[in-house]
Amino acid sequence: MTVHFIGAGPGAADLITLRGRDLIAASPVCLYAGSLVPEALLSHCPAGAKIINTAPLSLDQIMDEIAAAHAAGHDVARLHSGDLSVWSAMGEQLRRLRALGIPYDVTPGVPSFAAAAAALGAELTLPGVAQSVVLTRTSGRATAMPERENLAAFAATGATLAIHLSVHVLEQVVADLTPHYGADCPVAVVWRATWPDQRIVRATLSTLQTAIGAEMERTALILVGRSLAAEDFDESRLYAGDYDRRYRPVGTEPRFPELK
Ligand SMILES: C[S@@+](CC[C@H](N)C(=O)[O-])C[C@H]1O[C@@H](n2cnc3c(N)ncnc32)[C@H](O)[C@@H]1O
Repeated sequence: MTVHFIGAGPGAADLITLRGRDLIAASPVCLYAGSLVPEALLSHCPAGAKIINTAPLSLDQIMDEIAAAHAAGHDVARLHSGDLSVWSAMGEQLRRLRALGIPYDVTPGVPSFAAAAAALGAELTLPGVAQSVVLTRTSGRATAMPERENLAAFAATGATLAIHLSVHVLEQVVADLTPHYGADCPVAVVWRATWPDQRIVRATLSTLQTAIGAEMERTALILVGRSLAAEDFDESRLYAGDYDRRYRPVGTEPRFPELK
């Protein structure tokens, strides 16, 4: 018996991995985080599967369901939105499973920052503009930010920021970032990326509030950085005609002659 933690992707039901889909189909029990996991994914469950929405459950109740499946020898498909490596509450579940000696594995999913970037048609790491993406958030009711992890500290690097769980404090986000990125810095807010009601607003830090208007649905990602609207960036050296590399040796004395 194994608990399969599966990244369910950002919303569209076909943005789950084949492995994730097959594990759902092979598991007689499915626990899913109902607030953000699309119900359409549950159609992959086998006939007669026990399907439980964990949104109203406490951690203790979730562990009780897993322990019952373990006692019955039933595999569990445990679905969380996006990818499991960020803001999934997987860590605390894995710690309890280790303490109980219950086996588990983890299958990654498409994270919401990648889905939002795709919706924008944006590469977040343009040569000469930004080479880092910071996945971050602001303090919430349930989770405080460690003191040194604040927006101003990340902004000081000029990296592209992907700010989660924060659209309800947009005014503060803009105030914190403007001194570092400048009022004309491009910003995009993507609500419910890949869901049928996806919405995108592109603006600058100074025009964002007006551009959004009253819309404040909470499931949104804020992307900030010069990479969002740059046209004047360097081309990658990797594909430059004169760049000598292992798979495309160039010149009379290539660096990797053994592959010639
Ligand atoms: C609890 S976190 C889950 C993050 C998830 N594990 C991931 O990989 O993206 C929820 C936050 O992720 C972002 N998010 C999740 N799904 C989204 C989507 N489809 N579109 C935009 N933002 C999304 C929002 O900032 C939301 O408040």
